[in-house]
Amino acid sequence: MNSKRRPLLAANWKQNLLWQDIEEYCETLRAEMPEYFGEDEAPLPDLLICPPLCYLGLLGALLEDSHVLSGSQLVSTEDGGAFTGEVSAAMVADLGCDYVIIGHSERRQLFSDNEERISRRIQQALEHDLLPILCVGEDLETRRGGSAGEYVQAQLAAQLEPLRTAAQQELVIAYEPIWAIGTGENAAAADAQQMAALIRGWITSNISAAAGEAALLLYGGSVKPGNISEYFTQPDIDGALIGGASLNPRDMAAMLRSCAGVL
Ligand code: 13P
Repeated sequence: MNSKRRPLLAANWKQNLLWQDIEEYCETLRAEMPEYFGEDEAPLPDLLICPPLCYLGLLGALLEDSHVLSGSQLVSTEDGGAFTGEVSAAMVADLGCDYVIIGHSERRQLFSDNEERISRRIQQALEHDLLPILCVGEDLETRRGGSAGEYVQAQLAAQLEPLRTAAQQELVIAYEPIWAIGTGENAAAADAQQMAALIRGWITSNISAAAGEAALLLYGGSVKPGNISEYFTQPDIDGALIGGASLNPRDMAAMLRSCAGVL
């Protein structure tokens, strides 16, 4: 954490929760964290929820009077037209979203999201004033082979031009080692910090010192109430991207409190 950057906790619900669950979730969140629903200034950390695409409108309506931000888990590579099943960045922005997750390892591995498609999704997001959260991270073999740093730098380099454009607003990068996602095996905080420092250094060298200083770097992978403060207290980690533990609003509230406690 660095006091110059606004810390962010981002919930990635993935393909979970139904309409009624979401209504109950928001009710519980309102009861647990009234400061996110008050008239006063938005509290820290910022809270972002990324529900399944089809519930973005519902979430927006339920959280209309709150400081909670909303984001999409996906945007199309295409601007609009005959692309059955796709949802464009313009549509996501129209629903009041602020952010979009791009390059998540589940999409890279299961839905053939390659560097070219990721690049087009980032461009689409930027054209429609959505802030992309670019996910990077190595698999277990790469980590064991000792080349995790090079691997992540290559992922960043593949997106250099879109990242340069994004840096004019704010760069948000989530380091999510694949072996830590949904496994309960979180990265050691010191290792996550080392990677965050490397990412910040890469941005400083390849984009600008100002972009490096301002970039918001998140850690993701088996984050939960019991370990979140370990990450938040690292100098280059500004928040977390949370999967499983974000599905429970009480756990989410506990993580928000834990972060607020170390700010
Ligand atoms: P888990 O928190 O379930 O490990 O998921 C992390 C993640 O993929 C967030 O995008």
